[in-house]
Amino acid sequence: MVPGSKRKARALPKGRQADAKDRAELKSLLGDKPSLERTSLLEHLHLIQDVHGHLPARLLVALAEEMNLPLSEIFETVRFYAHFDYVDDGGKPPPPVTVRVCTSLPCAMAGGGRLAEELREMAGPHVRILEAPCMGGCDRAPFAMAGRNRRGGATAGELLDLVGEGRLNAVIPKYEDFGARMERGGYRAFGRVRRGELKPEEVVSLLAESGLRGLGGAGFPAHAKWRAVLEAEGVKYVVVNADEGEPGTFKDRHILERTPHAVLEGALIAAETLKAQGVYIYLRDEYPHVHSVLSREILLLEDLNIVPKKYVHLRRGAGAYVCGEESALLESLEGKRGWPRQKPPYVSENGLFGQPTLVHNVETISRIPAILNGDADAARKRLYSVSGRVCRPGVYEAPSGATARQLIEMAGGMADGHSLRAFLPGGASGGILPATLADEPLDFGTLERHGAFVGSGALIVLSDRDDLKAVARDLMAFFAEESCGQCTPCRQGCATALRLLEEGRWDRELLEDLALVMREGSICGLGQAAPNAFLSILRHFPEELS
Ligand SMILES: Cc1cc2nc3c(=O)[nH]c(=O)nc-3n(C[C@H](O)[C@H](O)[C@H](O)COP(=O)(O)O)c2cc1C
Ligand code: SF4
Repeated sequence: MVPGSKRKARALPKGRQADAKDRAELKSLLGDKPSLERTSLLEHLHLIQDVHGHLPARLLVALAEEMNLPLSEIFETVRFYAHFDYVDDGGKPPPPVTVRVCTSLPCAMAGGGRLAEELREMAGPHVRILEAPCMGGCDRAPFAMAGRNRRGGATAGELLDLVGEGRLNAVIPKYEDFGARMERGGYRAFGRVRRGELKPEEVVSLLAESGLRGLGGAGFPAHAKWRAVLEAEGVKYVVVNADEGEPGTFKDRHILERTPHAVLEGALIAAETLKAQGVYIYLRDEYPHVHSVLSREILLLEDLNIVPKKYVHLRRGAGAYVCGEESALLESLEGKRGWPRQKPPYVSENGLFGQPTLVHNVETISRIPAILNGDADAARKRLYSVSGRVCRPGVYEAPSGATARQLIEMAGGMADGHSLRAFLPGGASGGILPATLADEPLDFGTLERHGAFVGSGALIVLSDRDDLKAVARDLMAFFAEESCGQCTPCRQGCATALRLLEEGRWDRELLEDLALVMREGSICGLGQAAPNAFLSILRHFPEELS
């Protein structure tokens, strides 16, 4: 049982009761000794949906009873996540196959909307085509992926015909497995920490010397977070943020597909240093192939006694961008809807289950083993996801502070017939900069004076053929859709901004006022950063307003 989650004595059930058949079906689905803690709720919901292709009301009633949770709380959680399909008694279940077509910026530029329309015309009754936010396939834009339940009617062949080979990503890639990792010195740093050859203080000092900063977006010095958790009282946790939902970002997928053990070893080093109770990896649901890789490798680590069983928990998100925000992620891990928490307190003091928690992005944590092994460059480089109007969209490693021009060159230059007009240095949130700033270093703290930030290093390149006002409008539509709705400045602000941006003539004064309210009044970074794109246009592209 996890701390802070003591189960109450079973209350007499009120309202709708499960029948014996549903109870038995649920039990056989959940298996022998299922965890009935609230933290397992999303996993159980996934299990039901994987088998049925949707969440039938009757099984949710049985689940509420089994987990001793109010049915209303289960509904609240289910309704929050885009990937859960709730079906009421007698309701029509969705078709067995769902194809999600990305219509976020890099895919929209490559014809995602058109692809969705074409697929809709081709799809038979057993396939449903949905437009979806970024699925981390920007290097293969326009990207689409198919999912189906185990009883699904479509064959892989049919799906490939539908979507086109190379656009489906649920294929297990060739990756550096445990054996290959060990041949390259894998788990050496972890061994030193575990044997006490590297004391917690030394580990934190090495991180401080390296200058490693969080690569999930905020760029906070890693060592300061480790120190805060190290010095905090209580049971501690390590959480790996593999939710990667920022449009234009796909570097974490790149790492997890190739070198999963860099991430696992980094997380175990953190856990050993902090004497953590457990490690949680929160993986976005859009990366099912990575889920297979990680499950397999974690099982192997358990079999080899490198970690105790049930020490590393691999958890699936369920389609909610805001769950990448660390406190929303923790709420989601606790089995709730992903509502960001008011801060302070920070997660380093009051995190998972109310305990001190170290949350790191996949790339940040993957750099830990190399840093402890003395690779001085490990913290000076970072991965940039490059997409949009370039010849070779992809992930490129470059020194922190590489410029947009250098990265475009690494990506093979501008696509044929396009010339650089603007770029987004930090995905949907980080603003839009003009080509004249293409030689500015893309690093933490260097772009803020231009009203932008590098965030997770997602460079989206725009050309003279792109409509910048339409870009800002589409980004706002994304934020309006993904806002969790908890606070008014963001919920109403995104909706109002979208309406204003849809008007032919932009009202500068009104937009600037609205942006101020959103920035100052929103609880989390989503609402605070949502106005960046239109503010950039007001500031850097006045010609768009005439
Ligand atoms: C709306 C929003 C979405 C975010 N999404 C992610 C994400 O997908 N992955 C990530 O690592 N950090 C994301 N972050 C940043 C996290 O809140 C947090 O700063 C990060 O996980 C800390 O890890 P780091 O110190 O290694 O960067 C997001 C922040 C916000 C406000
Ligand atoms: S800023 Fe937006 S996403 Fe963040 S808590 Fe408020 S409503 Fe939710």
